[in-house]
Amino acid sequence: MIVYLIGFMGSGKSTLGRRMASRAGWRFKDLDYLIEDADGRSVQDIFQQSGEEYFRKIEARTLRSLKTADNIVLACGGGTPCDKDNMAFMNREGVTVYLKHDPATLYHRLSKAKKLRPLLAGMHPDEMKDYIRITLDERENWYNKAQFIIDGLKADPGKIMDIILSYPPYNP
Ligand code: S3P
Repeated sequence: MIVYLIGFMGSGKSTLGRRMASRAGWRFKDLDYLIEDADGRSVQDIFQQSGEEYFRKIEARTLRSLKTADNIVLACGGGTPCDKDNMAFMNREGVTVYLKHDPATLYHRLSKAKKLRPLLAGMHPDEMKDYIRITLDERENWYNKAQFIIDGLKADPGKIMDIILSYPPYNP
């Protein structure tokens, strides 16, 4: 089974996902790294050299390349659920978990983050605050389709895995 961890950039999907996987003895994967492996370039370079549309194509393809026979926690990119029919695909194939934060928390976390994020490159603080507020509002149309919605500030990896694994559809 695959647990798909979704949420805005900077919400802590990789950190939480790694902990969820280790609690359950599962493998952890990060979709951005899988894309980088598949393409041979960094996410930053793919956006700069080939554009977002191309990135979204490889993202959708890489998402579908994972074998559901394995037990995996997958940290998705912030935009993964919002393109193609990725959200419907993930809801069909596994369990989706939305790690939810408010825009102010996301701004705070992203303004301190070291990871290079092509969509935020060169933004001034006010511009970034507006971008987060507007984009989160749009993206929640998809994020809110997740089977589990978790408060990012209270997320407990062990408890989340316990709940997922005891939920009847995933515990036949
Ligand atoms: C993106 C988020 C990034 C990465 C790419 C696009 C987005 O992943 O996939 O830069 O559209 O929000 P993180 O959410 O892990 O930063």
